[in-house]
Amino acid sequence: MSKWTPARIRALKGKDPFATVTVFDYTSALFADRAEFPFLLVGDSLGMTVLGHQSTLPVTMDVMVHHTAAVMRGVAQALVVADLPFLSYQVSDDLAVQNAGRLLQEAGADAVKLEGGAERCTLIKRLVQNGIPVCGHIGLTPQSVKTIGYQVQGKSEAQAAQLKKDALALQEAGIFALVIEACPANLATEITEALDIPTIGIGAGAGCDGQVLVYHDLLGLFPDMKPKFVKQYAQLGAATTQALKAYQSEVKSGSFPGPEHCYSS
Ligand code: KIV
Repeated sequence: MSKWTPARIRALKGKDPFATVTVFDYTSALFADRAEFPFLLVGDSLGMTVLGHQSTLPVTMDVMVHHTAAVMRGVAQALVVADLPFLSYQVSDDLAVQNAGRLLQEAGADAVKLEGGAERCTLIKRLVQNGIPVCGHIGLTPQSVKTIGYQVQGKSEAQAAQLKKDALALQEAGIFALVIEACPANLATEITEALDIPTIGIGAGAGCDGQVLVYHDLLGLFPDMKPKFVKQYAQLGAATTQALKAYQSEVKSGSFPGPEHCYSS
């Protein structure tokens, strides 16, 4: 299978639902690429899952470039979308173009993702005109945690109407896909039906064209928090602790290293 492109992702619209996953380093990217995901996201959620912060706000451009470059070394086929972190695109459009350019130029990403609605449209048009594919992100936007918290969005009629307007405006501005996070399933379905580009839901129900989960969440590797929308497909956290304990006790008992782990002279 050849490399996925934004155009191929767009063409998934209305076809079979597809899954995507966030990855943060070489090894997670390698596993995800071997599992044949079409789309991988280097999410700024790495601030929590990998770096142990309380939110995505401390994540910087340098951190995103560093992790995206590691992911790119593990990927052969998937389209890799890298998050523009907090304040890397809100301050000025010039800075945003430079920062998005860094993710493509220095790290090798295929596209960028940014959070927000209609207020981002001028910037998105400029990025797209300059050859930078953009994925949108509406609903619960974690970079706005200080203003909206981690609340489900779009529950009131006014909020739902705003999200629909935002989705259409972002499509018009040129995004090739739209992440919808933590919003009522019926609203996400309505938005999905109104758009010609694929929606990718996280906590947004089964009506989206695709779904995304965070790698550590779906593998049971992140013990600190388990939102309602997460399904754990494995318990690798528990398995890891068990393996580490087994190693420790074998060293203590003298059964590791065995003869098969030793070099002879
Ligand atoms: O940073 C991230 O992992 C994300 C997903 C939750 C979509 O943006």
